[in-house]
Amino acid sequence: MLTRLIAGDESGQLTEAELYQNCIFILNAGHETTTNLIGNGLALLDTHREARADLLADPALIGPVVEEVLRMESSNQFGNRLTVEDLSLYGHDIAAGTDLHLCIGAANRDPEAFVAPNSFQADRRRNKHLAFGSGAHTCVGLTLARMEGQVALARLLSRFPDYQIADGAERSNRIRFRGYTCLPARLN
Ligand code: HEM
Repeated sequence: MLTRLIAGDESGQLTEAELYQNCIFILNAGHETTTNLIGNGLALLDTHREARADLLADPALIGPVVEEVLRMESSNQFGNRLTVEDLSLYGHDIAAGTDLHLCIGAANRDPEAFVAPNSFQADRRRNKHLAFGSGAHTCVGLTLARMEGQVALARLLSRFPDYQIADGAERSNRIRFRGYTCLPARLN
């Protein structure tokens, strides 16, 4: 990917500053979010033993389980936008040039969009969460992230079906990225 960014295409090449910024962006966008997806999944499957048992009994549930982890504990909790024109949304007038902070985490627990939004349901139907954003800037890495999450959680669970999260788990205190800075586990 970096080779292609460096090489550019028929429309030209990125400047050194653009290249540098894109490397930082792709590292942040692609690495920490997916690491947190895996950690959040392990923590949720520790506290939701019934869901873990269901998944062990039916490995095909891994897809819906990862979607439910993405919804309940969205690795990326915020999206930022700057309005370019005046608009009105749900009765609120918003002037052009306003900074908007879109709370993905709250949208993914909206009771109008999800039945029992605060419960972890391994087989939740119609899980149309916004963990990867939406619209023109929808996450370009979503297929890779889903695959990584599914492979990591399924493989870990098949090797260590009785793992337990041990004392000392620490959540990151940043509001944008939701995950753990430390998640010790006993593999049993
Ligand atoms: C669980 C993992 C991931 C989550 C939750 C996630 C979440 C998001 C979200 C919410 C956005 C939209 C930002 C916005 O609308 O302003 C986004 C954009 C983006 N993501 Fe991801 N992402 C994940 C994994 C990845 C991976 C693995 C890659 C690349 C290898 C990646 C690359 C990108 C890029 C390049 C964008 C910008 C797209 C654009 O602006 O057109 N992401 N991601």
